[in-house]
Amino acid sequence: TFLVLILAVFLLFSLSSGFSAEISVFVQTGDSVQLDIQTQELPEFDDLSWKKNKLENIVKYTSESKKEKRYPSYKDRMDFNNKTFSLTLRNTQKTDSGLYTAVAAAESDNNIVTYRVSVIDAVEAPVLTVNSNSSSPDPCNSTCNGSNIIISVIYDSSSCSPEEVTSSDKYILRLSCIGDSIMCNYSNPVSWKTDSKKVNELCTAKTGTYSPAFPPWVIFICLITLALAAVIGFCIYKRKKGTEHPTIILFQ
Ligand SMILES: *[C@@H]1O[C@H](CO)[C@@H](O)[C@H](O)[C@H]1NC(C)=O
Ligand SMILES: *[C@@H]1O[C@H](CO)[C@@H](O)[C@H](O)[C@H]1NC(C)=O
Ligand SMILES: *[C@@H]1O[C@H](CO)[C@@H](O)[C@H](O)[C@H]1NC(C)=O
Ligand SMILES: *[C@@H]1O[C@H](CO)[C@@H](O)[C@H](O)[C@H]1NC(C)=O
Ligand SMILES: *[C@@H]1O[C@H](CO)[C@@H](O)[C@H](O)[C@H]1NC(C)=O
Repeated sequence: TFLVLILAVFLLFSLSSGFSAEISVFVQTGDSVQLDIQTQELPEFDDLSWKKNKLENIVKYTSESKKEKRYPSYKDRMDFNNKTFSLTLRNTQKTDSGLYTAVAAAESDNNIVTYRVSVIDAVEAPVLTVNSNSSSPDPCNSTCNGSNIIISVIYDSSSCSPEEVTSSDKYILRLSCIGDSIMCNYSNPVSWKTDSKKVNELCTAKTGTYSPAFPPWVIFICLITLALAAVIGFCIYKRKKGTEHPTIILFQ
């Protein structure tokens, strides 16, 4: 019951914090991002401000004078909408990553919404390499290198299942086969790039023509037939031998 209690408390905590939870937003370096207040009904307020990392004021709008004050840090790189109170950051830089909170202040402060903004670069193009060494044990082993993750897969056109690796910072590297090509897709929350290559003839020849001509069941049936033929042949031979040498019958 103690464990259940802990679970319940944890659940309650995550539910209650869910309402004021921060909204995660990814932006590609240089792009704009618009942060909305996400509500139709604002409480009465004297002024409304957008703050970065809870301390630094970006803009403050005063309801009585209907005037807005822009603070130096984002003065020339932001737009504030005095009707919807949304904040738009332009030409974002990596250093703009952080928490952005809209605060409506009256007798006490009221956090309206919080965004966790992550400004990240577009991914670099991945590099796909197909092993071209035909004498190595796995000639159809392809390797894809995205700058921070590397995966490899052995190509088999009959069952090329996609391989996927996700890094802790949400970069995804995915290797998949399309016909006689292998494609590598490297992506992060703001962008993706691919590299693809036709596979080595050896890989398509091995998996494309050899195995369908002799699937395992054909070989199995051949073996059974051979075994039966051998048994029957042996019986006939033994019978003949038996009639020629009656002494053997005594032993049996
Ligand atoms: C609201 O913003 C618009 C466009 O930026 C501006 O023309 C207008 O004067 C602003 N209104 C007030 C009351 O500040
Ligand atoms: C190819 O692979 C074989 C066995 O793994 C190795 O001995 C040989 O040096 C490799 N050749 C090249 C050109 O990499
Ligand atoms: C494919 O080759 C790479 C390096 O050439 C190796 O690190 C990897 O283990 C190989 N993958 C498999 C599945 O053999
Ligand atoms: C993968 O790519 C990165 C940069 O693109 C490079 O620094 C690294 O050496 C590469 N790794 C391998 C195993 O090729
Ligand atoms: C690559 O991956 C991204 C993200 O998963 C996806 O949106 C995109 O369509 C993929 N591109 C191709 C060519 O499959």
